[in-house]
Amino acid sequence: MAEKTLDDLFHDTLKDIYYAERQILKALPKMARAAKAPELRAAFEKHREQTEGHVDRLQEVFEIIGKRAQGKTCEAIQGIIAEGEEIIEEFKGTAALDAGLISSAQAVEHYEITRYGTLKAWAEKLGMKNAAKLLDATLQEESETDMALTSLAKSAVNSAAQKKVA
Ligand SMILES: [Fe+2]
Repeated sequence: MAEKTLDDLFHDTLKDIYYAERQILKALPKMARAAKAPELRAAFEKHREQTEGHVDRLQEVFEIIGKRAQGKTCEAIQGIIAEGEEIIEEFKGTAALDAGLISSAQAVEHYEITRYGTLKAWAEKLGMKNAAKLLDATLQEESETDMALTSLAKSAVNSAAQKKVA
């Protein structure tokens, strides 16, 4: 077997997150439609737009390493998204739905944060400054989204979830 190095890991992981971002792009409109609180719907819509930018940045990183932009099935994100769909099904029409949607979205964000954190560190190690910058820009947006979701949950959504719908 050919020897594999950090370059191969970087390429593989890039394909993983590229696949994940495109799945997320499809999942976010469903989550926005399901959300009851207008602020939560707006947060999902805003993040859908940002996610388009994340896909573009990844395409730029593929260009930097001279590879075709290509995804590789990521079972982790499939599982996280499937759990989110389960929450939409099982909590439809209940006061707890929005809190559940936030929990799913944060699971997605945290998955992305680990991937971008790793990819950024590897890009730096491999001497790819521009790639590291692109990956960091997305990492910042994922972290900001995560924090915005936390404050939405704590300021209103979790309390609303405690009340039974009359
Ligand atoms: Fe993203």
